[in-house]
Amino acid sequence: SEVVEKAILTHLSSGADAKIDDTFVWAAANKLDHNAVVGSVKSLLVDAYVSAEELFTSFYTLSKEAQDVVENGSQEMRVLAALVESGEGLSMPDLQAKVGKNVCKIGMGNCMKNKWAKKDGDKLVALKTLEEVADETKDKLKALQDADGNPEGIMSDKEVTMLKKRKLVSLVKRNSFAVTRGEHYAPNRVKKAADLTKEMLDSGAWKTTPFKPYNFLTVGEKVGGGYLHPLLKVRAEFRKILMQMGFQEMPTNKWVESSFWNFDSLFQPQSHPARDAHDTFFIKEPAATVSVPEDYYERVKEMHEKGGSGSIGYRYDFKREEAFKNLLRTHTTAVSSQMLYKLANQPGGFKPARYFSIDRVFRNETMDATHLCEFHQVEGLVADYNLSLGDLIGTIETFFKKIGITQLRFKPAFNPYTEPSMEIFGYHPDLKKWTEIGNSGMFRPEMLAPMGLPENVRVIAWGLSLERPTMIKYRIKNIRDLFGHKVEMARTRTAPICRFEEA
Ligand code: PHE
Repeated sequence: SEVVEKAILTHLSSGADAKIDDTFVWAAANKLDHNAVVGSVKSLLVDAYVSAEELFTSFYTLSKEAQDVVENGSQEMRVLAALVESGEGLSMPDLQAKVGKNVCKIGMGNCMKNKWAKKDGDKLVALKTLEEVADETKDKLKALQDADGNPEGIMSDKEVTMLKKRKLVSLVKRNSFAVTRGEHYAPNRVKKAADLTKEMLDSGAWKTTPFKPYNFLTVGEKVGGGYLHPLLKVRAEFRKILMQMGFQEMPTNKWVESSFWNFDSLFQPQSHPARDAHDTFFIKEPAATVSVPEDYYERVKEMHEKGGSGSIGYRYDFKREEAFKNLLRTHTTAVSSQMLYKLANQPGGFKPARYFSIDRVFRNETMDATHLCEFHQVEGLVADYNLSLGDLIGTIETFFKKIGITQLRFKPAFNPYTEPSMEIFGYHPDLKKWTEIGNSGMFRPEMLAPMGLPENVRVIAWGLSLERPTMIKYRIKNIRDLFGHKVEMARTRTAPICRFEEA
């Protein structure tokens, strides 16, 4: 602190050979904290205001018990005094009552060892008078205390060890400094400037201002910038790949959707189990959407109830209330259907398009090492005339090839909105196994016809999670280490950028 620093400099101002012999002693005498004094000495050393020599001092201090011995005599002396006073000796209980339990215990043992007393029946009797013995323990301790804890010339090492064993003294080691004036001593310290300022330039003060020297060896401060989460690193790479393939990104920044867009527009019947609160998070406030395109709504309702385009529909009462329920989207296909509806109804009519998105979806799942209630879905679709299943397989193969997966297998599957549907399996060369990596299909006419898309337009689409490839890429075993409140910040900070080698 400045006060301590000032005190040191002032102390040294009395003359060229002014000195602090020992900072520890000096600090105590001046009622200063020794740590603060040492801190200031080290700081003053840097600018050579002082020179200092390190002192290593060790000395003995007396315990509380030893203080008592110095004042009232050793335990053995007090026991002997009690025995002498009693004349014919004392029984244990009587001795204890007289000198106290602790003094009795220690003093008795030492008296017998010194042959100052002996047992006689159940009594302890004195063998010496007080004049015949000396209280060496007390004398040694007092001498040590008078010599500031330095035993040299007062007692042998063996005697010191004895006192230590009796826990009467303990060794204290202390580091302190002897301080004298330094090469650049001055009674007042001028702080060196760390930076050149505009004010110094304006006033000309820079000419006389003392500056701190540059420290070229110091480690630079870490740049506290932002870091992309591993998921976002993989997303950036997937986005680049999909854009290279001619796909445009869909606006998926809206997490709340109506059941109408999330399910009904996709020809998913209103009684479908996925539309249960067990699987889907419904919104309480506002519980219902405001509007849907009414003419389109009518055509969707008609398709569910009665069919069309060669389909017989589901044959149930389509409920507006069910369609209007708000929810957290369960897939980004809810956005795909809105984009296709727009594509069909844009000015100038339908034009072929390729769309993709990578964003959050939400499902009411039981959470475990690989499942959370939300994940990121990568979704792609191509809308064009007369597309075939071959186009879908080709597009998927091209995409996965770009992220290093060449061996793909397709397995027939079911989705309410695609026919045919295929689950995608990929052989992972690192993991050496086949894993499910996505879902795909051709959107059904029951979905596309109500939107108003031309009859020979086909839409091929696929979806996969972003988490799965990210966990494989970054070797993360538990999804909780990737996403959520248990994620280590350092992991995000140090995660390398993501590059996929095209196979
Ligand atoms: N929406 C599907 C899912 O949630 C993925 C998918 C997208 C399947 C497009 C087929 C076509 O898994």
